[in-house]
Amino acid sequence: MRTVFWENNELKMIDQRILPARFEVVSYRSHKDVAFAITDMVVRGAPAIGAAAAFGLALAGYESASSSTEGLLADLGAAAAVLKASRPTAVNLAWAVDRLMGVAEKIKEERNADQLRQLILAEAQKLADEDVEINKRMAEHGAALINDGDTIIHHCNTGALATVDWGTALGVIRTAHEQGKRIHVLVDETRPRLQGARLTAWELEQYGIPYEIISDNMSGYFLKAGKAQKVFFGADRVAANGDVANKIGSYMLALAAHDNNVPVYSVVPTSTVDLSLAHGGLIPIEERNTDEVLGIQFHGEPVAPKNAKARNPAFDVTPNRLLSGIVTENGVVYPPFDINLAKVVR
Ligand code: MRU
Repeated sequence: MRTVFWENNELKMIDQRILPARFEVVSYRSHKDVAFAITDMVVRGAPAIGAAAAFGLALAGYESASSSTEGLLADLGAAAAVLKASRPTAVNLAWAVDRLMGVAEKIKEERNADQLRQLILAEAQKLADEDVEINKRMAEHGAALINDGDTIIHHCNTGALATVDWGTALGVIRTAHEQGKRIHVLVDETRPRLQGARLTAWELEQYGIPYEIISDNMSGYFLKAGKAQKVFFGADRVAANGDVANKIGSYMLALAAHDNNVPVYSVVPTSTVDLSLAHGGLIPIEERNTDEVLGIQFHGEPVAPKNAKARNPAFDVTPNRLLSGIVTENGVVYPPFDINLAKVVR
């Protein structure tokens, strides 16, 4: 099953807020509800929110009462702004919405409003199908970097749940496993929302890949002790120089790996590369509600004092010097990233 899919004139998505306790699929008929689902993280992961926003725009087309192409395009433009504002860091969101709006603009002279609605939906479906195919291509390139017997530290969730299907960094691990390589995964739990402990562990159970969950502050120990041979994570946005914004904690993990000569790979579709930004300092970093940090319990009791304050940046930037390679659907990119990255983004 796909994480994000269109069925019976509705957008359907696996509700990632409640996994692994319950597996539920939720349905959407309005672009505003889709935007809220992205903000609230029913769906999360850069490629998955891109696909969700694309289908959200298709829904906006059917929500619009306009019978003229001009009116429809105006309604789509307003919906595009709502969808693009739902999360700031993953560039795939704006990329997907802009791609669909570009198609609509291009064909508006030749089609009537109903044809335009159908074409927008067809383009969203195409984008979703392409995501799966791109992930599988990335996975083949990335799996070649993994040796039989490797222990891999993985951060956040980058699997089928973070994409339409298959996954980015976890897709690489999955393909290597299917190739018969014996792999062990150390799953960073990924505070504060625990995408590793909840979602990556759940996926690894489905695929039969051996794993152990570690708290985020344990990875330095395993890297220094020589107990992990590779680090793999995804990215939400990659700047033109190869700086990578990914889930908070990726930077500390990359630092510890680099200090211990353990290779670090970020696995991304080229739609995650933002060549308009010269370096990672320009990537917008989402600050989320501090309830995500303070809401955790220990032995059934709140961890923090009642009036405690907190901070919650959801992403950090790993500088390009800490990365061994960036895996894309067009091959593995090696330093110098400021020259080589642009060559694979077509
Ligand atoms: O806040 P999230 O769960 O949407 O963050 C997701 C990540 O950071 C992933 O690692 C990233 O999207 C790349 S993998 C598809």
